[in-house]
Amino acid sequence: MKQEEIIQEIRRLAAERNALLLAHNYQRDEIQALADITGDSLGLSMEAARTDKDVIVFCGVHFMAESASILAPDKIVLLPRPDAGCPMADMVTPEGLRELKARHPGVPVVTYVNSSADVKAESDICCTSSNAVNVVNSLEADEVILVPDRNLGRYIAQHTDKKCIFWEGYCPTHDRLDVEAVKRAMAEHPDALFMAHPECPPEILELAQHICSTSGMYDFARNNPAKTFIVGTEAGILYRLRKENPGKEFILPSAKLICPNMKLTSLEDVLKSLQTMSPEITVPAAIREKAKLTLDRMLAVPRD
Ligand code: 13P
Ligand code: SF4
Repeated sequence: MKQEEIIQEIRRLAAERNALLLAHNYQRDEIQALADITGDSLGLSMEAARTDKDVIVFCGVHFMAESASILAPDKIVLLPRPDAGCPMADMVTPEGLRELKARHPGVPVVTYVNSSADVKAESDICCTSSNAVNVVNSLEADEVILVPDRNLGRYIAQHTDKKCIFWEGYCPTHDRLDVEAVKRAMAEHPDALFMAHPECPPEILELAQHICSTSGMYDFARNNPAKTFIVGTEAGILYRLRKENPGKEFILPSAKLICPNMKLTSLEDVLKSLQTMSPEITVPAAIREKAKLTLDRMLAVPRD
């Protein structure tokens, strides 16, 4: 089938199945172009909970489809590529977290949404890259356990008086970005502003004029009068940045900023998923209830 025929067939089947197509900001360009909604990990899960559609086709990675299923348990959540995982989410297990908790009794666990439902269920509250500091500062405790991203954890620690205990996980894609590559891009584009995702290592964040989530980057690029931006996150974000800001230039400082898991989902996979109504992602009720509590607590924290 030609690409245009695949797209038409996806649209026809999505209408027939009453399905909503969601795509994360790091997905391939053609998947983002096709999706009903693009967004960050938590934003998409909230769209899944909000929609009146029966089926959610989640073009992203496993933990995102799980979050959608936790927040929208009555809907069928399909993940076209079940092998699309997140290496950072896999760096922490419920057993490992229980051991850490046993060493720090009573210390609340703040878990990044980039984590499995099992790990969320072992936690007290979730956070995202856009609300992590507010979430931590909303807690009464003087000490917190931050899981699983050490880079986001160290960023939070710079913005709170609380004692932070870190899980030493990291996103291999953001962790690969090296200082030399960013400095080279800055030297080549001296008027550019550098915006970076908090999953980047601390020495990269030190160079950034703006640190924010993927959705925060769209707002920063739109509202800032600068004409050139160096982008410290996964390459997929360039699609919408360029589309929404035709007069501006966006520079990726390193060709290493590609998440292989985020690039797995193809148009063919989306079509097959709608044809077969699989693979479906579900979360067992006992885990779902506990994990949902951590997401609900996060959503109750006031935004800036
Ligand atoms: P956000 O889209 O929530 O900023 O997350 C970045 C990421 O790495 C998702 O896998
Ligand atoms: Fe996981 Fe990093 Fe890929 Fe996001 S970009 S899915 S955090 S490995």
